Amino acid sequence: MSFVVKMNKSQSSSNHNNGMNGKSMNGNAVHHVSVKTHVNPDKMKSNKPRWTVRASEMSKNTLNPIRAIVDGMKLTPNPEKPMIALSIGDPTVFGNLPTDDTVLQAMKEAIDSYKYNGYAPSVGYQKSREAVANFYSRAEAPLESKDVILASGCSQAIELAISVLCNPGDNILVPCPGFSLYKTLAVSMGIQVKLYNLLPEKSWEIDLQHLESLIDEKTACVIVNNPSNPCGSVFTKDHLQKIISVASRNCVPILADEIYGDMVFPGRDFYPMAHLSSDVPILSCGGLAKRWLVPGWRMGWILIYDSNNIFGNEIREGLVKLSQRILGPCTVVQGALESILNNTPMEFYQSTVSFLKSNSEICFSELSTVPGLNPVMPSGAMYIMVGIEMEQFPEFQNDVEFTERLVTEQSVFCLPATAFEYPNFFRIVVTVPEEMMVEACVRIREFCARHYRPHSQDSNDLDQ
Ligand SMILES: Cc1ncc(COP(=O)(O)O)c(C=O)c1O
Repeated sequence: MSFVVKMNKSQSSSNHNNGMNGKSMNGNAVHHVSVKTHVNPDKMKSNKPRWTVRASEMSKNTLNPIRAIVDGMKLTPNPEKPMIALSIGDPTVFGNLPTDDTVLQAMKEAIDSYKYNGYAPSVGYQKSREAVANFYSRAEAPLESKDVILASGCSQAIELAISVLCNPGDNILVPCPGFSLYKTLAVSMGIQVKLYNLLPEKSWEIDLQHLESLIDEKTACVIVNNPSNPCGSVFTKDHLQKIISVASRNCVPILADEIYGDMVFPGRDFYPMAHLSSDVPILSCGGLAKRWLVPGWRMGWILIYDSNNIFGNEIREGLVKLSQRILGPCTVVQGALESILNNTPMEFYQSTVSFLKSNSEICFSELSTVPGLNPVMPSGAMYIMVGIEMEQFPEFQNDVEFTERLVTEQSVFCLPATAFEYPNFFRIVVTVPEEMMVEACVRIREFCARHYRPHSQDSNDLDQ
């Protein structure tokens, strides 16, 4: 048997003949030697390729906390009470909030035209991007079609935005409580997540000092979600300006998740962040899912706002390149987009937010008189957060156990806010039909009355 023995400093090792006549690639001397050897049959076996198919590191680092928590809960409803799920952020599940007829009509026409069955450019048709740009363009923050990247839902828009702004090892600042997707995406990409606090006693405004204290040289962007999931909060103009000042002082771009943009209750105003920023570049992510009540149509977008040319061509080109990995935005919906944006009547939007406000008020006024619960009245989006005074419910360790037993006894399912990294709260989705909301609140009251054990000041004194 002939081996090639490569001699280097201290070791010799066997190698295949590289046909380089005594010279290895790196210039070390190579000697051909003949050796008699006993071949160990076990070793031969170990050289044989073996099946080792393992899930990738990325897949192992991908965790959806909502799934992780909900799948771990024992959700066995009381067979005597029909289940009321207040946990799903999909406004279509109960059929009480259909999209507008003009939206459906636009989609039917797009299908019937036979024009939208093929591949579109990866960032979307020029005409559809232009429609989005025209819809959102304002004098103080103008948009052209080149400033719009279409995507498969707001989720893909967020993924593209994070991917173009961050490298592995960077960090992003994320609201707490907040929508879990930011962390799910970032962690799987090797990006560190730093949570900044929202303050329930200030209608979930950002703790600006805390936010600023987290910024360092590795901070690639601040994610701001307004209106908020899970809080239903809507930031005032003044507060948004303060957030922008923090970003400006520290030269950090903003990723504004504005999927609930304009979904604010009558009497409140929604300010897109980009309309208030004079220097901070902003990627605003949005889509059709919530305002047009068609989350399954998977149409989202990024609006690129860069009045000071800080993103320049680089970020735009990066987004175009990233969009080419997978063709995201559905072509048929793109065909319907111009008509959806231009023809949906104002009354449709108004009636949706009026309904959400009315249901929120029912829920808030019912639950704010339940001993042990502290709901925070929302101003927009589709959610209400409810604080649990855990010490008054000593049977339960935490919000997960509390909401689990609420299912067992009352067949009402609310999402424990541990899923949003915010224990001792639960989130209620307010898109359910009014009578379900009323019934759910009655049952929550009954549940709390049964388990409430007031931990009075007197007993505290006695303990001491
Ligand atoms: C805050 C927030 N951002 C983004 C999304 C994702 O939207 P889409 O369904 O368009 O991907 C959601 C969906 O619930 C959300 O609540």
